[in-house]
Amino acid sequence: MGGCFPCFGSSNNKETGGGGGGGAVGAVKELNRKDSAKDGSIAQSHHVNRVSSDKSKSRNGSDPKKEPAIPKEPTAHIAAQTFTFRELAAATKNFRPECLLGEGGFGRVYKGRLESTGQVVAVKQLDRNGLQGNREFLVEVLMLSLLHHSNLVNLIGYCADGDQRLLVYEFMPLGSLEDHLHDLPPDKEPLDWNTRMKIAAGAAKGLEYLHDKANPPVIYRDLKSSNILLDEGFHPKLSDFGLAKLGPVGDKTHVSTRVMGTYGYCAPEYAMTGQLTLKSDVYSFGVVFLELITGRKAIDNTRPPGEHNLVAWLLRGL
Ligand SMILES: Nc1ncnc2c1ncn2[C@@H]1O[C@H](COP(=O)(O)OP(=O)(O)OP(=O)(O)O)[C@@H](O)[C@H]1O
Ligand SMILES: [Mg+2]
Repeated sequence: MGGCFPCFGSSNNKETGGGGGGGAVGAVKELNRKDSAKDGSIAQSHHVNRVSSDKSKSRNGSDPKKEPAIPKEPTAHIAAQTFTFRELAAATKNFRPECLLGEGGFGRVYKGRLESTGQVVAVKQLDRNGLQGNREFLVEVLMLSLLHHSNLVNLIGYCADGDQRLLVYEFMPLGSLEDHLHDLPPDKEPLDWNTRMKIAAGAAKGLEYLHDKANPPVIYRDLKSSNILLDEGFHPKLSDFGLAKLGPVGDKTHVSTRVMGTYGYCAPEYAMTGQLTLKSDVYSFGVVFLELITGRKAIDNTRPPGEHNLVAWLLRGL
């Protein structure tokens, strides 16, 4: 039931389950390896999804001596809690519209209460999205079972009943950063400067953990304001690891993959070459930071010509 999965090594054991053996890193590698052009047929409308070749194959691993074997069944070793569809339907009052928290490319997110424990949770229900959706589901479950940090959202469990795919997260009471930055209703106060800086610092710590403390390092690939969720006191946590990749190791500086991410946040050199590096995330972090300090959206087609893309607009002003 619901524990962490102690496979990723880390230089900060307080934030992880520590080192140890097991097959989940191998499972993530296997899923990452399959993340190649031939599977890239489903694009989420607001995601970049340009096909490029995956030249790295499985070479993006860690020290071979430490490499766990790739399990035949990627989900075989997951320790996150499993739920039946019936339990999650009960938790969300049958996915009642009043419980809807939001909707993204993956599906709808509902607020719920687990009958067994009374815990308030967020339940994300995957749209029928074929192979790609299922892969993102598996990567999300594996990554969040392996990664543990106070600036990453906590996965409580999942449901893979029949063709239903649902993810159960800790509920983040203040919603996403995007909800507090853009299109505010008249009764909502804009974030003050200190809170903005606190959110930026927390998101940076989450990213630092993925890049510098997780072993092998993880490239998040989907950093944007809607994926920074806010706990009490505006404590930020990164969410949505379905696109995450294990980063390059040894002498390698990049992994080659098809281009996935979100317009406006995706690093241009990655969009052009398909070569993904840790710096691709740093670029996306920079875009979020610009949103925080300007209050503008990364992409805003309601603005005058020349101001649609936040980064391009700011660069012109330099
Ligand atoms: N754990 C959570 N607690 C509270 N609200 C959440 C939680 N997870 C998601 N949400 C809400 O649901 C909305 C939709 O989230 P989701 O991750 O599905 O889509 P997105 O991030 O907007 O887009 P994308 O699919 O491109 O990542 C979020 O913007 C947020 O408001
Ligand atoms: Mg999201």
